[in-house]
Amino acid sequence: MSLPHPFDAPLILQPLSLDWLQRSGVEVAVLRLDLVDPELSGNKWFKLVEHLEAARRAGASGLISLGGAHSNHLHAVAAAGRRFGLATVGLLRGHQQQTPTVADLRAWGMELHWLGYGGYRERNLPTFWQPWQARYPDFYPIPEGGGGLRGALGCAALIPRLRAALESVGWSDYDAIWLAAGTGTTLAGLVIGEAGQHRVFGALAGPPSHAVRAGVATLLAQAGVVDDGYELLDASRVGFGRLDKELARFILATERDAGVPLDPIYTAKTMMALRLYVERGYVPSGTRLVLVHTGGLQGRRAAQDQLQRLIDG
Ligand SMILES: Cc1ncc(COP(=O)(O)O)c(C=O)c1O
Repeated sequence: MSLPHPFDAPLILQPLSLDWLQRSGVEVAVLRLDLVDPELSGNKWFKLVEHLEAARRAGASGLISLGGAHSNHLHAVAAAGRRFGLATVGLLRGHQQQTPTVADLRAWGMELHWLGYGGYRERNLPTFWQPWQARYPDFYPIPEGGGGLRGALGCAALIPRLRAALESVGWSDYDAIWLAAGTGTTLAGLVIGEAGQHRVFGALAGPPSHAVRAGVATLLAQAGVVDDGYELLDASRVGFGRLDKELARFILATERDAGVPLDPIYTAKTMMALRLYVERGYVPSGTRLVLVHTGGLQGRRAAQDQLQRLIDG
């Protein structure tokens, strides 16, 4: 396997023109990681790249990882396997079901095993991987969501590329970065890449938990980063992955007014949390923010009907 790094093209920064930003004098440019690739979109390539390098070094013949039936991560693993000539195995939460994501996984040749809910909960036990490693001995295991230090280090490489893109929007610098946080791996990577130069705000997609903070702290310690120039804030609204009418309307209005497609689980909630911050006056006029679009648009397909019902209802 060779890794041709198809994503070395310049990253796209898109200035956001929205009334709530104009009123407050805050400037936002969206780092459109959703545009880096149609399949390996968003933060996924960056979280995977170091894992793929490790798989290549180990001479692995395949990749094995785990996630849910809408998982952006498994979707990216299946796409990477197909592209780089590696077999893929997916261990799925719950019982067999058909979703647009699962249809893609199958079409791209991923072998699926449904673990049920109890079986999936065992994923953090030290013995979890043993039977799978016995069954797929030369497969490289990728942690859930592409996490771990390798996942974070792949994202740290975004910072120099972000800086190289600033000129395209006429900025010489920015004040802070905002992005969605699930496990916090991507955020930890950006904090590592920033090395204390700019603050990073992580908008939590799920209810605030000690586990995310602890996970980020572990990754930073492993990377030898002592400066903790980041903040985690609650953007989860009605709960992880759950949608409500205000969110649905926000998505529609933002897509119409700014031309940025949003996934309802991560980037839309991040942007809504930012709007709240801005409208409460927490962000001084003249501030320049980079908002990272972490992708996830493939997962939106299954939510489309619900979004439409919320808007119509
Ligand atoms: C589209 C999207 N955005 C953001 C995140 C959150 O990333 P992390 O788990 O690294 O915090 C995820 C999950 O990996 C995701 O799929």
